[in-house]
Amino acid sequence: MNYFDHAATTPMRPEVLEAMTPYFLEQYGNPSSIHGVGRKARAALDASRRTLATWIGATPNEIVFTSGGTESDNYALFGAAYANRHKGKHVITTKIEHHAVLHAMGQLEREGFDVTYLDVDESGAISVAALKDALRDDTILVSVMYGNNEVGTIQPIADIGTLLADRDTLFHTDAVQALGTEAIDVHALGVDLLSASAHKVNGPTGIGFLFIKTGVKLATRSFGGQQERKRRAGTENVPGAVGFSRAAELVIAERNERVTAYREMADTLLHTLDELGVEYEVNGANRLPHIVNLYLPGIELEPFLIMMDMRGCAISSGSACTAGTIEPSHVLTAMYGQSDRTKQSVRISFGLGNTVDDVTRLAERLHEVVSTFMNGVR
Ligand SMILES: Cc1ncc(COP(=O)(O)O)c(C=O)c1O
Repeated sequence: MNYFDHAATTPMRPEVLEAMTPYFLEQYGNPSSIHGVGRKARAALDASRRTLATWIGATPNEIVFTSGGTESDNYALFGAAYANRHKGKHVITTKIEHHAVLHAMGQLEREGFDVTYLDVDESGAISVAALKDALRDDTILVSVMYGNNEVGTIQPIADIGTLLADRDTLFHTDAVQALGTEAIDVHALGVDLLSASAHKVNGPTGIGFLFIKTGVKLATRSFGGQQERKRRAGTENVPGAVGFSRAAELVIAERNERVTAYREMADTLLHTLDELGVEYEVNGANRLPHIVNLYLPGIELEPFLIMMDMRGCAISSGSACTAGTIEPSHVLTAMYGQSDRTKQSVRISFGLGNTVDDVTRLAERLHEVVSTFMNGVR
């Protein structure tokens, strides 16, 4: 099987599993325990937090471990909204956020907050001028994702950071898809809150973090023990944290090489499709290098994905969360309106283990399957 769905999740690297294993089998202590076994677990947790902080230019106290991107997004949004509701009830986000943000925003609306959803252009980008226009005296929070998980479009995060710098408005970015390829410095970007998830960067599932800038207060969403400086109760996931930090070290060491490899893969894919005469258009521009979203006019999505799977190629229709139901993508709908394009587009996402030769074969399989639709021979 050739796996081209790394935006959904990634295989864990053997180095990561190796780093984690002792924390299941030998150093299994609870970091809150006084004894030596507990202290070793605490030391590992602290070291992991330091590595992850360095990754994004933060300090260790600014990193709160969570169970993944969804929890980080929810904590950021509800935590910021409820900590600041005495100042206002207006929140701004975009129409193309991951459901972890969009559905949390829907709930905030039901709880009395007023949410503005910014449009995107055909490239999938928001306009900073439109964001500026949407700001109100009672705007307490802006949440704009770093790079989109379906089409890969990168948003002007640093420009938004500059726009918000002098305001009493918190700025959250969901960087879950971006951290594997983009060099991110939270202070240079001017963000107050940033979400991350390990399983998108060849780390384990079930661990993520929320960066919370020093001085930013979030309403508590989780009650129990005093872990994570009272910000997230519950015994810490030490093996997960160790695995996440090992994965981050490998990202840092290999990022440039990976970016170059993914760009070459994307070029090879499009070039081979051109050579084979496949009709397509790329959805999105200024993209994260690992994501290529293709409009293939005339295909029917679900059978298309199944036929690709039968040919040994795992690709997807966009976000895995909507893939079970295959509704038209909310991201493509925001970009192109209700059109065939929103129902006839597939996402290919590269990752470790993919080679340029695999990508050439993928393009050949895409050609075969597209042809069956064009010739009506299914
Ligand atoms: C942009 C983005 N945000 C949030 C999430 C949710 O992350 P997790 O699966 O770690 O909860 C995902 C996962 O698909 C994502 O792509």
